[in-house]
Amino acid sequence: MSYEIYLSPPFMGGREREFVQDAFDSNWIAPVGPHIKAFEQEVSDYIGVKSALALTSGTAAIHLALRYFGVQANDYVFCQDFTFIGTCNPVLYEKAIPIFIDSELDTWNMSPIALENAFTWAEQNNKMPKAVIICDIYGESADWDKLLPICRKYGVPVIEDAAEAMGSEYKGKRCGSFGDISILSFNGNKIITTSGGGMVLSNNCEAIKKMQFWSTQSREPVAWYEHEETGFNYRMSNVCAAIGRGQLCILPDKLSRRMNIFNAYKESFEDTPVYIKSDLLGGSNHWLNVLCFEDSPVSAGQIVEVLKEAKIEARPSWKPMHMQPLFSEATFFMDEERFINGKDAIGLENCISERVFTKSLCLPSGDALTREEINLIATIIKDCISSND
Ligand SMILES: Cc1ncc(COP(=O)(O)O)c(C=O)c1O
Repeated sequence: MSYEIYLSPPFMGGREREFVQDAFDSNWIAPVGPHIKAFEQEVSDYIGVKSALALTSGTAAIHLALRYFGVQANDYVFCQDFTFIGTCNPVLYEKAIPIFIDSELDTWNMSPIALENAFTWAEQNNKMPKAVIICDIYGESADWDKLLPICRKYGVPVIEDAAEAMGSEYKGKRCGSFGDISILSFNGNKIITTSGGGMVLSNNCEAIKKMQFWSTQSREPVAWYEHEETGFNYRMSNVCAAIGRGQLCILPDKLSRRMNIFNAYKESFEDTPVYIKSDLLGGSNHWLNVLCFEDSPVSAGQIVEVLKEAKIEARPSWKPMHMQPLFSEATFFMDEERFINGKDAIGLENCISERVFTKSLCLPSGDALTREEINLIATIIKDCISSND
């Protein structure tokens, strides 16, 4: 299906070509080369962490972070329930067991109540996790001042999945700096793209060094090919890093465009039965704008279809992990006093992630989106609502 308005297409500034040309001119067309180191330095300076490692994807970044924290077969990992599968698949790569934690209502990120309940249960049942993966979903920061002390209390390391949150902030600090190890994604639809790519970031320089070793097939530092540990081919190429450096040059412009789009959408849906999810903690990069319904006569799915007919790409919000067939047996903690086990669930109307999934959808939010296009999208949605009223 081709669209006239895409959800979040790449947006280039111009210098990307210059950096890529340099990669070609110098013949560094490989997963080594000067743009990789420069890109890592520039991103780590921007985020405010000591060290970074550029990789082929955000998923690869989470995988290496889990390995660094020693996650192995049958270990437990607490994961945010409301997210994209890329957050959780690496847990399965290691044959570990994800335990899903519901969202809180304000940020849609991990609920501190559900997290605390999960830890209490884990302590009583001897199922302490090796790591907790917390997201900054749709570019809105998790409430780190509430979540980090809980993880510290139980001595469990945190992986911040800031895949969607390049440029977002929480209380003056940039997302990507809150985890013991944090990750970013530079997939084609993200705030900055390297066409495909990701990064791990940390103040623990030894951790970054170890992950670099694993990301290049764990080759021992001797003249011949010597391997003592399993490795991966996860290193970003110099060409992709060159694109990323060009994208960084226009990051402030991209963030202000996304902010303007958010404000325009918010205004467009004032005085209607639907509304744009607001950024309650402040500091979001507004990666995707999410339209929410409470008592609307139309469903999110209907609106996605109506927009599709007009060649406009909208998407349902993330389907929670505990609802995925892949995880039908998984343990899940809701944002309240009790937990449920897969299909034995009771009181699902109280489940925040499920409510968000059924009552919201993501609207086109790309940097180049014009006011006219926003007006068109809003008009189609409002017409759809009023004709079903
Ligand atoms: C929340 C989240 N985590 C992880 C990923 C995985 O990143 P990648 O696609 O670069 O592997 C993505 C997106 O793609 C994401 O949105």
